[in-house]
Amino acid sequence: MKIISIAILLMTLFTSSSCAGNSSKKEIQQQNQNGKKVLVAYFSRTGENYAVGNIKKGNTHIIAEMIAKETNGKLFEMKTVKPYPQDYHACTDVAKQEKESNARPPLQADIAAEDYDVIFIGFPNWWGDMPMAVYSFIEKHDWKGKTVIPFCTHEGSGLSGTEKSLKASCKGANILQGLAIKGSVAQNSQEHTRKSVSSWIKKINF
Ligand SMILES: Cc1cc2nc3c(=O)[nH]c(=O)nc-3n(C[C@H](O)[C@H](O)[C@H](O)COP(=O)(O)O)c2cc1C
Repeated sequence: MKIISIAILLMTLFTSSSCAGNSSKKEIQQQNQNGKKVLVAYFSRTGENYAVGNIKKGNTHIIAEMIAKETNGKLFEMKTVKPYPQDYHACTDVAKQEKESNARPPLQADIAAEDYDVIFIGFPNWWGDMPMAVYSFIEKHDWKGKTVIPFCTHEGSGLSGTEKSLKASCKGANILQGLAIKGSVAQNSQEHTRKSVSSWIKKINF
């Protein structure tokens, strides 16, 4: 009986120490070289795209992955409960209606942005603004003391006024200079895009 109890005790000790090892390893993996915890939260859409045809991976998603790789950041995709239409024009109609009504479409899941020091927020330019789903995400969190860095894909409008909108929505955050890349370039010229992402990250001191 005594031998069995000692064996159980040893097994428990072994299991808990290896778990602790895993979690501290995970913690370290989420930090970049400056010791900051980085989150790359993005919204992106697949399906019919006016400029690049039918896409399986969204243009913003491609850039989000590049940023996460460069910064050792954690990726999080903002997905709406109700998916947007695959058809491009139907999607622009839904997005326009959501913008006009200042909607906050519910998201499937959330992540504790509060646990990170630096949060990259990525989105496609929709009607000169962020998709309303991005506001749904932002308004759930406390941004005080955080560094927020926007990035967007577009087909000519760039970031529009989104840096200003982020300043107003992420209260107490320091908003750094954002990156705007044409969606068609992100989708079709990925090596060129990777270089642009890399030099922007260096420029903003990462
Ligand atoms: C609903 C909707 C509205 C859009 N509005 C604009 C716009 O105002 N200005 C612009 O440059 N591009 C606009 N676009 C093009 C997207 O910003 C561009 O294709 C982007 O790369 C899509 O990113 P994603 O694949 O990550 O969703 C719009 C696209 C959609 C679907």
